[in-house]
Amino acid sequence: MASNKLDDRSTRHDRFHAKAKKHGFLARAVWKLGELDDKFKLFAPGQRVLDLGCAPGSWLQYARGKVGAKGVLVGLDRAELDAGEVAGARVVVGDVLAIDPAVLLGANAQFDVVLSDMAPDTSGIRSMDQARSEALFERALEIATLTLAPGGNFVGKIFQGPDFKKLIEEVRKRFAVAKSAKPESSRQISIEQYIVGTGFKG
Ligand SMILES: C[S@@+](CC[C@H](N)C(=O)[O-])C[C@H]1O[C@@H](n2cnc3c(N)ncnc32)[C@H](O)[C@@H]1O
Repeated sequence: MASNKLDDRSTRHDRFHAKAKKHGFLARAVWKLGELDDKFKLFAPGQRVLDLGCAPGSWLQYARGKVGAKGVLVGLDRAELDAGEVAGARVVVGDVLAIDPAVLLGANAQFDVVLSDMAPDTSGIRSMDQARSEALFERALEIATLTLAPGGNFVGKIFQGPDFKKLIEEVRKRFAVAKSAKPESSRQISIEQYIVGTGFKG
């Protein structure tokens, strides 16, 4: 996982970290997706899932548990996965800002769920870090718009900044329901939030 002052550093050894280790998950981030899934019912068996910023791989592990052996998992990250193969996912190494969505789709016509837990390398300058996070969020939303099947779901991480409300509106234009959420397992001092869209309008 990228070094990220706004994210996980000071909680590396907190109860969520310990619980992830105990259950064999590759990162404490798994509980954030678990909480979002409990709230928004993101997955169904057999679905095709794209996970942007997938390293080290705990969201892929979680998604496999939800979509089952017949589901399809595709991950993208700038970094290779330390664990190599994770949860039977096809992992593409590349930059989300440059990748052709057709490469992510591969043999799949569409995805049913697009996830993004991407976080930029942080500079310590809050406005700059927010702007970089917004660019990653906007690109994730663009890829979701290009690849999701009607009725599909989207989750995107964002460092909350001046354009937060505008970005929720952008999701609302494309999805039946658009909501923001701050999982309990996300550090309270972190400015990260998730914007969730369910029921892609196509
Ligand atoms: C918080 S970690 C994701 C953790 C993951 N959800 C898990 O559960 O294991 C954020 C990831 O976003 C990736 N990332 C950041 N910028 C990216 C970019 N431009 N293109 C692709 N991946 C990016 C980082 O390399 C890092 O692995």
